[in-house]
Amino acid sequence: MKIIEPCTLAIFGAGGNLSRRKLIPALFRLEIAQRLPDHMLILGCDIALRTREEWSASVVEILRGVYKKDLDEAALQRFCQRWHYFALPPGDDAAYPRLHQMLESNPDFPSNVVYYMAVRPADYPTIVDKLGNAELLKEKNGWRRVVIEKPFGYDLLSAQTLQASLYRHLDEPQIYRIDHYLGKGTVQNVMVFRFANMLLEPLWNHHYIDHVQITHSETLGIENRADYYEGAGALRDMIQSHLLQLLALVAMEPPVSLTAEHLRDEKVKVLKAIRPITQNSVHAHAFRGQYASGTIDGKSVPGYLEEKGVAGDSTTETYAALKLFIDNWRWAGVPFYLRTGKRMAENSSAICIRFKNPPQDLLRRSRHGPSQPNWIMLGIQPNDCLKMEMQVKVPGLDMNTRTMSLDATYRKENDEDYDAYEGLLLDVMLGDHSLFLRIDEVEAAWRVVDPVLKVWAMERDFINTYPSGSWGPRGTYRLFDRDDQFWRHSLEPEGADTQAY
Ligand code: BG6
Repeated sequence: MKIIEPCTLAIFGAGGNLSRRKLIPALFRLEIAQRLPDHMLILGCDIALRTREEWSASVVEILRGVYKKDLDEAALQRFCQRWHYFALPPGDDAAYPRLHQMLESNPDFPSNVVYYMAVRPADYPTIVDKLGNAELLKEKNGWRRVVIEKPFGYDLLSAQTLQASLYRHLDEPQIYRIDHYLGKGTVQNVMVFRFANMLLEPLWNHHYIDHVQITHSETLGIENRADYYEGAGALRDMIQSHLLQLLALVAMEPPVSLTAEHLRDEKVKVLKAIRPITQNSVHAHAFRGQYASGTIDGKSVPGYLEEKGVAGDSTTETYAALKLFIDNWRWAGVPFYLRTGKRMAENSSAICIRFKNPPQDLLRRSRHGPSQPNWIMLGIQPNDCLKMEMQVKVPGLDMNTRTMSLDATYRKENDEDYDAYEGLLLDVMLGDHSLFLRIDEVEAAWRVVDPVLKVWAMERDFINTYPSGSWGPRGTYRLFDRDDQFWRHSLEPEGADTQAY
């Protein structure tokens, strides 16, 4: 286990959604596991005026809500001792110099500092500017790191503008652009699966792979996030960030090592090799939809347009699917299908890789039904698993075949379970950038989706809808090149939905 130097973690937007739902519980789990460095302090920063005691009481309340009666009281006591609170009321220009003064003069605060931006994206540049002007980002006695949450901009140009504003006060190694998807254990397993197993490498190319599908579906709607989601939509929210990162991990060349720069060099090469979607070809490569009312888990749920804060004529997409080609030696001609949606039939994230059929179909006369290809599937959530579908002979006198699934659910009963944020928070404190995005990756990802965003932004009269609780809008099958290709909804062979709609 690597030793982490003591540090001060300052969370901006400490009272907000991300901090309450993800950061505080993740930090507390690290406290229980005794993974936080001794003497580390956590400073909640927000606009509300609160005392340290009041803030501590809210932290306890958040954790009681999560753990109910099973709260580890000893860990809670240790955890609360780490927390301090600092109010940054809007318009109070002296607040940042005061913060500087406090961090400098109180020796309890370790001099290494992480600033976590758990605030609205529009506030990132302003806060970084104020931190910079108050000399809070100068690495004169210890390091200063800034964590930026997604979305990093809302298109290429705005991402570059945001970047320029950060570079006024920070160097690239000080910036940690977080993509929590990369902190998920199964996502990292993609690398282990590919690079620790010799078996796969000879097959991992256009000679053997027919196509790749990467899916993230959720049964939840937009919850109370209309403010953000109306301006974002599914393509920005999930595909530009998380799903393109998954694609990069599946498709990249083996890196020289797993150090941050080698890993990110390979990811960026893949993202740059994605064939640009021209404005004329957007309809052949992209499909969008919006959820209408429907039923989820037996309960009726409202459509997107009925959600609080959503404009009555909004054409923001809650479903997006893309077909992409990677124009390099390994992947020439292999389509990569990415799709995501809210209010879908199931919560499921998976990578499904379909292999080509054998060159000669020797069993075509004896088998009942068409030949079935091999699939390799990596389930990311809710269950992390690895499945491989093969054809076997059905026992009996006939030479018939059926699909069987080699199911390597790799989690064992006592395996450690953790949330993506836990590992990522530790990585920031350790100074490990491997699972954080470099600016050229972010730019390359925006280059992929920008033409689609532009066309969709112009076409504001109509958007396909889909009933909540379904697998998305009808007609997405037109992204596929052949009739025998279809969305894989289930990782089970029997349940595999072979219907294209
Ligand atoms: C976030 C998106 O980045 O990822 C959300 O903004 C989405 O809309 C979420 O629901 C999905 O991540 P997870 O880890 O909850 O599956």
